[in-house]
Amino acid sequence: MPTSPSGFRKGLTSYGDPAFAQFLRTAFIKGAGYTDDALARPIVGIVNTSSGYNPCHGNATDLIAAVRRGVMLAGGLPIEFPTISIHESFAHPTSMYLRNLMAMDTEEMIRAQPMDAVVLIGGCDKTVPAQLMGAASAGVPAIQLVTGSMLTGAHRGERVGACTDCRRFWGKHRAGEINAAEIGQISGELVASVGTCSVMGTASTMACIAEALGIALPGSASPPAVTADRMRIAEKTGATAVALTASHLTPEKILTSKAIENALRVLLAIGGSTNGIIHLTAIAGRLGIAIDFDAFDAMSRETPVLVDLKPTGTGYMEDFHHAGGLTAVLHELRPLLHLDALTITGRTLGEELQCHVIRDTSPSSPSEAPEKCHVLSDTVAGAAAGGHHAAGSSSRRIVRRRDEPIFAEGGIAFLRGNLAPGGAIIKQSAASPHLLEHEGRAVVFENAEDLARRIDDPALDVAPDDVLILKRIGPVGAPGMPEAGYIPIPRKLAQQGVKDMVRISDGRMSGTASGTIVLHVTPEAAIGGPIAAARTGDRVRLSVKERLISLLVPDEEIARRLAESTREAPPSAEGQRGYLKLFLQSVTQADTGCDFDFLRAVEMTQKAPRKI
Ligand code: FES
Repeated sequence: MPTSPSGFRKGLTSYGDPAFAQFLRTAFIKGAGYTDDALARPIVGIVNTSSGYNPCHGNATDLIAAVRRGVMLAGGLPIEFPTISIHESFAHPTSMYLRNLMAMDTEEMIRAQPMDAVVLIGGCDKTVPAQLMGAASAGVPAIQLVTGSMLTGAHRGERVGACTDCRRFWGKHRAGEINAAEIGQISGELVASVGTCSVMGTASTMACIAEALGIALPGSASPPAVTADRMRIAEKTGATAVALTASHLTPEKILTSKAIENALRVLLAIGGSTNGIIHLTAIAGRLGIAIDFDAFDAMSRETPVLVDLKPTGTGYMEDFHHAGGLTAVLHELRPLLHLDALTITGRTLGEELQCHVIRDTSPSSPSEAPEKCHVLSDTVAGAAAGGHHAAGSSSRRIVRRRDEPIFAEGGIAFLRGNLAPGGAIIKQSAASPHLLEHEGRAVVFENAEDLARRIDDPALDVAPDDVLILKRIGPVGAPGMPEAGYIPIPRKLAQQGVKDMVRISDGRMSGTASGTIVLHVTPEAAIGGPIAAARTGDRVRLSVKERLISLLVPDEEIARRLAESTREAPPSAEGQRGYLKLFLQSVTQADTGCDFDFLRAVEMTQKAPRKI
């Protein structure tokens, strides 16, 4: 059987003369000073997402140096190349609007350029999902390396970190408890180094998901950005990528329905970001795997939250790393996981867990670890550092036993009802327990501009028991589904000490945020979803116990309002150009991951999770 071309013989440029194309390519790369020996090696592409606009990737240059070292020590040739980089706070109108563009860039550049494997360096919220979506579609062996979390800082003796504390301090500033000078001082203390947000926000969640999927090295999710552990993981990632060049372990062999199910389980157990479910849905959709949200919810009822990090709990990613990182969580979840899921090392998840022992949760010891652990030997010797720290009581405070969880069910609950026939979610572990069962009067904002105009108006008719509803911040409506679902508490109530209210929208919220907040209402208002019919004064009922979100208005009345609605026309692709036109023509709803319809697999052939 003829072998497919590898290295610089892959994917020749079309000149109508393959030999000439090869000759020309060799001439140009030799012009960069490469020897014939170098050019004969397996090629590992390294995606460089370094950007002056992306402090979360501020260590990318050091990581690339370490990856290159690992590639060369293992006998490969590293070639780095740039793609789009997206930072949450520097992307207009919102980073989510650009995620699919980055996924397309990643996919096409992996496919277009000659490489036998690729290292994906990402970190800030949308970058890892974009890279995994692109790599899943490109079909070249790929391994994820995250940049790692930032360090924590201190304000007046209190430990602080982005960005749960950003929101907490800003809330105090809105309520008049913190003046302009102090909030200015705090802004210089929340982000103590380069790296991703220091809590279990979306970036940390996606780092854990990548590891749980088996497409990042064991122990790679938690080392902070500026540590030696992070650099060692980068070097090992480079070496593993060289092994991948000969393995034919393409992403679809790793990102199976079992791996997706493991990742969903981890998302629930870490109290992960609500954005994680959208991104996992999009990644799975690239490979024809549809998420079954009812089965996901059933999974949530039997999966406790084990990780005590903000916004669900109290700790930061540094603590998580010292407590064993995701390895410790996976050991606790062992009976609930598919241990036969294959990982990027060529070993199964179960074999990896035997290799990376957490002393007081596993019966085995390193000397009992299978011989094959040593094929890639100390893959995470530094970073599974978890292992070195995991036995202490403070570590047990951060990563709990399954019989001593910090929340009895999974972090996310899936809701349905006449307000959200296609579903909605709530991060129940980060909500106020007394509001999880609540009925109240709706106070409705028609869109983000309406909210900005009225939320702090002293004349706003609003009480603490009311339910705030914000429309038209969905995938199409905003467009780009901004993280505006974290509706601020009206200033006059904040000044009275109100910290939380039930809030509902068709948008998203930051993974670092907390509160009793119903998100991703589907279908969204801008395409005529029932949320568009909500009016101030309607009664609304939230019952997390019953997984219900209801507008207490007769169905006929909702239908009448929608039919008579003089609602704003949804943003239309007509008359637009460029990426905005493509976006408005192609973006899907939250229940299909907000991917572009033409990027998803042609057919959904599997489900995850299978029925629980
Ligand atoms: Fe980049 Fe939070 S802003 S991870």
